[in-house]
Amino acid sequence: MLQIGALTLQTPMLLAPMAGHCDLAFRILCREQGGVGLASTDLLNSHALLRGARRSLELAQTNEFDQPCGMQLYGNWTDPLPEAAIWAVDHGAKLIDINMGCPVDKVAKKHGGSLLLCHVCDTVQLAKRIVDAVAKHTNGRVPVTAKVRLGWDPDRFVAPDLARQLEDVGIAAVTVHGRYTCQMFSGHADWNRIGEVVAAVKNIPIIGNGDVTEPEHAVQIMRQTGCKGVMVGRGSLRTPWLFKRASHLIATGELLPEPTPDQKCQVIDRHIQLLEQYSPGTSAVECMRKRISWYGKNMGHVKPLKEGIRTANTTAEMRQVIADWRARALESSPIQEIPAVPAVPAQSFIS
Ligand SMILES: Cc1cc2nc3c(=O)[nH]c(=O)nc-3n(C[C@H](O)[C@H](O)[C@H](O)COP(=O)(O)O)c2cc1C
Repeated sequence: MLQIGALTLQTPMLLAPMAGHCDLAFRILCREQGGVGLASTDLLNSHALLRGARRSLELAQTNEFDQPCGMQLYGNWTDPLPEAAIWAVDHGAKLIDINMGCPVDKVAKKHGGSLLLCHVCDTVQLAKRIVDAVAKHTNGRVPVTAKVRLGWDPDRFVAPDLARQLEDVGIAAVTVHGRYTCQMFSGHADWNRIGEVVAAVKNIPIIGNGDVTEPEHAVQIMRQTGCKGVMVGRGSLRTPWLFKRASHLIATGELLPEPTPDQKCQVIDRHIQLLEQYSPGTSAVECMRKRISWYGKNMGHVKPLKEGIRTANTTAEMRQVIADWRARALESSPIQEIPAVPAVPAQSFIS
């Protein structure tokens, strides 16, 4: 369990917001696999939410199978973030997260994201306004959290000081992606520096993030940094069952086996079903065409399966491709499980 303000998460494993990936269908898929303590929407623009822009409303979609759901907002000091946070609470958010780490120019140059790391005082004041507005609106029921990077670059390693000040104004937890903004997604996440953020705060939980792709990594990052929760981004795109295996390992010390190739095909099939249900029109097909290469990374030699999905024109065709693949695989049984890549020792993640 992980306590974030008044919200109790059933496991310490969190699905990271990933723009273009963590839509409602994918969040429900990960939750159905088990072990997800919290999943959040991708970053939402405060202005667009408040004026009811169609795309933002789609991104903010949640339901009873997506619980508890966080909503992540981005913006800067001039934007209506407190109002957007109240909107989010009224539309199902059980936690509000403020994006302080997005490195993409469109966001970080002007609107927020990593820009907030460069102006600690203003950022803390902004966080206070959001915390106060949400606390008043919900009577303290909904926590406000922040997701940061280490800093803009190694000369500006602000995360420990920022986290401490955010705690002082009522931020209930801070997620730390162990990279600098200037790194984008290159290099390795520096778990030692996440540990320095843990040491800097008094009581709030720090959630460690970056390069957790195996259940063992979740245990290692907790041990090495002292973080109370673990957020997984890209690893979940390959293995949405990672949360179950990681939370089980954390709770019991027992490593559950990887799903079999057939079970992995069933997960892809279920993902397509959920996309049919929740993604409008052709976007389900487009989405799965992009996603299949992530799944493929964990499934050994499945080129024909990937090609079949990429060239299918409808979700029904995609599901038929999977059914045919499964039937062929069963004929040539016994199915040989591709051995999982052994976990890389945590030390080799440190830059
Ligand atoms: C395609 C993509 C989109 C992302 N979008 C967001 C986002 O909307 N909000 C956010 O806070 N972080 C976003 N991130 C960063 C991830 O949440 C996470 O911090 C980062 O990928 C490191 O974790 P990982 O190594 O487990 O992937 C994104 C990352 C990727 C790869």
